[in-house]
Amino acid sequence: MILPKNSQKVEAVIVVNDYKSFKEAREKLSGSVGFVPTMGALHEGHIGLIKRAVDENETVVVSIFVNPTQFLEGEDLDKYPKKDLADIEICKRAGVDIVFMPTIDSIYSKDELKIEAPKIRGFILEGAKRSGHFDGVLQIVMKLFNIVSPTNSYFGKKDAQQLALITQMKNDYFLDTNIVPCEIVRDSSGLALSSRNVYLDTQEYKRALSLSRALKEASLMIGNKEFSVDKIEDTMYEIVEPNIDKLDYIAVVDREFNMVDEVEINNTIILVAAFIGTTRLIDNIWI
Ligand code: PAJ
Repeated sequence: MILPKNSQKVEAVIVVNDYKSFKEAREKLSGSVGFVPTMGALHEGHIGLIKRAVDENETVVVSIFVNPTQFLEGEDLDKYPKKDLADIEICKRAGVDIVFMPTIDSIYSKDELKIEAPKIRGFILEGAKRSGHFDGVLQIVMKLFNIVSPTNSYFGKKDAQQLALITQMKNDYFLDTNIVPCEIVRDSSGLALSSRNVYLDTQEYKRALSLSRALKEASLMIGNKEFSVDKIEDTMYEIVEPNIDKLDYIAVVDREFNMVDEVEINNTIILVAAFIGTTRLIDNIWI
């Protein structure tokens, strides 16, 4: 929003719940539009993305929508934390212009045309453990891009494979928005912030720290010129294994998500996914 000289935007946010009202609000905006798609229960990780969008754009849109199509049977769709009022307040304070909180019916129709994740990159790691998850992510992100028409779209490196697939969708479908990758925000003990961390009790929280500890150890090994993926994965396994209830994967990929045997500086991502109790956590580090 272009403001008159010497004016300030104080806690002015528009909250809209359907496409038509969004378009009306969007038409009044001018200049670059930064967009941060979320599923709500906003924490400092999301706020990092929002602040960057506020810094880099004239106006900022945040979407809050717990997207049912990206949850598999038996996942936590029904208990996914919902904090609408607190989320709106956070957006207000962060300087967001529009919060888009669509209803499910205003977003999805029956017998929809589907977007499919790519057959290889979309079905390894997260895609292998959560088959169909990325189809749902790409479907909602494509819809949101079309509704919002953002200049710049902000995504966390925390969901590295999601970020890679959205970047691929932008390229494959010639979408007209810049994808801006944002750094992972961690708490003071190193745990990557996630809306799902609220499920962890005190003991589980302590065990969850083994994920970031293993990634830190991996980066120290690389700093000491150990580039063998086997050796790095073995060390990570030793740190993580005694602390978690089920390991989904420890993996080392290049930025395009091809598995690699050797770490290459500036082109490697090390990932881990594991259950602590019934809570599934993911984390990674970009080398
Ligand atoms: P959600 O899990 O709410 O995350 C929204 C955005 O915040 C994603 O880009 C995610 O990578 C980023 N994020 C979450 N935790 C972060 C952290 N600790 N540090 C940095 N960024 C972090 O990801 C989704 O929602 C959905 O799949 C969505 C893209 C909105 C589609 O429904």
